Amino acid sequence: MPYLLPRNRASTSLILVGSFGRLSYLEACSVLGPWLKSCTVPCEGIIAVELSGHQPVRLQRLSGVYKIAIRLGAFSDEAELAGKLRETFDEAYSHANFSVSLYGSPVDEYSGVASTVLGALRRAGLKKANMLRPDRGSELRAEQILSRNAVDLVVFGGGGEEGYQAGATWYVPDAKEMRLRTKERPVPSPEISMSPRLAGTLVNLAGLQEGQTLLDPFCGSGTILMEALLRGIGCIGVDSDPARVRHARQNIGWLLGKYGPRKAGWDVRTGDARSVHETLGASRVDAVVTEPVLLPKFTALPTKERAETAAEAALDTYMAALRSVRRVLKPGGRAVIVVPVIRTAEGGEISLAFTDPQELGLKEYQPDPWPRVGYPVRMASESTRWIRRGVYVFEVV
Ligand SMILES: C[S@@+](CC[C@H](N)C(=O)[O-])C[C@H]1O[C@@H](n2cnc3c(N)ncnc32)[C@H](O)[C@@H]1O
Repeated sequence: MPYLLPRNRASTSLILVGSFGRLSYLEACSVLGPWLKSCTVPCEGIIAVELSGHQPVRLQRLSGVYKIAIRLGAFSDEAELAGKLRETFDEAYSHANFSVSLYGSPVDEYSGVASTVLGALRRAGLKKANMLRPDRGSELRAEQILSRNAVDLVVFGGGGEEGYQAGATWYVPDAKEMRLRTKERPVPSPEISMSPRLAGTLVNLAGLQEGQTLLDPFCGSGTILMEALLRGIGCIGVDSDPARVRHARQNIGWLLGKYGPRKAGWDVRTGDARSVHETLGASRVDAVVTEPVLLPKFTALPTKERAETAAEAALDTYMAALRSVRRVLKPGGRAVIVVPVIRTAEGGEISLAFTDPQELGLKEYQPDPWPRVGYPVRMASESTRWIRRGVYVFEVV
């Protein structure tokens, strides 16, 4: 049951907990855009949003957000928090399991915050409420929350004079289905593919409506195409390796068998991303979402020099592909591209970077008027030991 508070509990002031840091923030800006009154990142992993109306359907579309909490406000002691808890939790919660997840603060603050919350629950009249503790760290994970039917209180803000901020988790998406899409599909290809959660986030960043069409010119086993189809978006996949094309078709066939046929169409073809405009002929697409990653396999952290050489060599293919996809992108369309960020033996990072997107008729997507992001947006999760993922989002000028 993904709802921890009543499904119809409406709020326009929310705290989102994201899996991918700034990328989840960008996704929230892209999906909630017209309804946003404000959107900020008060600390790593937390996105604070004010909406102009209750938007449950849009909120549940966010793929890179794994908790959605209703904002309760600031507190600096038990009494202040008790007042806020009283407004949200009545007698029906008197025997409920509660938990606290603390973000953006050192782990050693956890015990103090948890005991303040427990004291506040008691003062609020929830004398028999039970407090669950995380197995490790400062966060009760989404699966634990769901399996133990807990009401999770999201806390962040670092104490001090301004106190902490609190939210009550309203919705936790069930990640089981996403995991099944990785495990059960006929060709999982873990060596190249990304998680459905990340693929869904990238598709959401493309800002498409149902019925529009997305192109992945390095489609591999088709993870991005599958997530697009599930959202009612049509898709075209291209890969230079005929075996990968077969795998993507098999995976999509399985998806449609499991989730039912889609109105939106799909097609996967063999072709070279650097001349994808020729493969597509007269067809035009509304967005491009792709992960080329064309790097040699590192067996140890490369030197800075080796990392730079690898990034430069890959950049040629990235630029050629971008030039070609630009020719098939409709006006206003977005290109969402994953780039490698290589960790070096010297302790630095070398990123494949697009220095002059304007030369290609593209500009960086920025969530104006909300805080800008620096590209590539780096991701701590979904990384290997040597290579992190970074993401660019461009718009056709
Ligand atoms: C990192 S994988 C993409 C993985 C994909 N996102 C998935 O989830 O399965 C990159 C793919 O690009 C393909 N590729 C490499 N060079 C290419 C080119 N010039 N044109 C088209 N595809 C290419 C490879 O065969 C590989 O399947």
